Amino acid sequence: MNNLLKGKKGIIFGALDEKSIAWKVAEESVKNGANIVLTNAPTALRLGSINKLAEKCKCEIIPADATKIEDLENLLDKAMSILSGKVDFILHSIGMSLNVRKKRHYTDLNYDYLIRGFDISALSFHKLLQTAMKKDAINDWGSVLALSYIAAQKTFPSYNDMAENKSFLESIARSFGYHYGKNKKVRINTISQSPTMTTAGSGVKGFDTFFNYAEKMSPLGNADSLNCAKYCVMLFSDYTKMVTMQNLYHDGGFSSMGISDDVIDSLKDN
Ligand SMILES: NC(=O)c1ccc[n+]([C@@H]2O[C@H](COP(=O)([O-])OP(=O)(O)OC[C@H]3O[C@@H](n4cnc5c(N)ncnc54)[C@H](O)[C@@H]3O)[C@@H](O)[C@H]2O)c1
Repeated sequence: MNNLLKGKKGIIFGALDEKSIAWKVAEESVKNGANIVLTNAPTALRLGSINKLAEKCKCEIIPADATKIEDLENLLDKAMSILSGKVDFILHSIGMSLNVRKKRHYTDLNYDYLIRGFDISALSFHKLLQTAMKKDAINDWGSVLALSYIAAQKTFPSYNDMAENKSFLESIARSFGYHYGKNKKVRINTISQSPTMTTAGSGVKGFDTFFNYAEKMSPLGNADSLNCAKYCVMLFSDYTKMVTMQNLYHDGGFSSMGISDDVIDSLKDN
């Protein structure tokens, strides 16, 4: 066991069930010596199995809808009280598109759905950072991460309006990264993760196909959620103090590929 986060305190958003990337990040953070609180939307707390994780991590759960400022204020106040001080790291692991969920095609979007999905998946990151800054809730040299996907840079048609949400999310990391860096030396990054079998991931149309495609394309194969969690721990740790405002690919090499031999082989006529 490493102790990369010994003495550090953190908040983890987005652990719904054992498949969630945030679930693994919570476990790895605690394994590495951190004290954490877990949070998720009130409805997710009813549907998911987060209590099991809280027992395992010996930590408390604070409900918060990440689109509501009053929930975020309450979360940060309670987290600082439970953890006896400001936090050192936060994981934003939140994503949802109503257009994807309701199977609306990208050329036939429902704009109310779009705005709700944008609020949940992207704007919530700005709301979280702004609330944290106003409350001075993050220690100097703290680290904040959000999870993104390469559809922010390249077109994956079935990813639908989540592509726009991820572009906005990555832009917030850069823009807020400047202000939080100047004010408090807090670093803000996004991790662009491989397709991963989770509730949010498998909601995307044709997910199995692009999971398999990415697996064939990436020299190291798809990065799984445990390895993503380990990467998060490193980015929360003091070993990455000067890394900020970056979108960091954690994808087994996928983002640098044009085509791979495995993909060529799979396209050859039999
Ligand atoms: N699974 C993938 O293939 C993949 C790939 C790249 C990036 N990501 C990103 O990783 C992150 C985590 O997703 P996951 O794959 O672990 O799926 P997941 O479904 O386990 O997690 C999504 C979480 O968002 C939470 N959430 C939704 N609305 C919320 C709200 N209003 N307030 C607070 N929380 C809310 C859900 O309750 C859930 O816990 C997302 O940002 C997702 O886009 C996933």
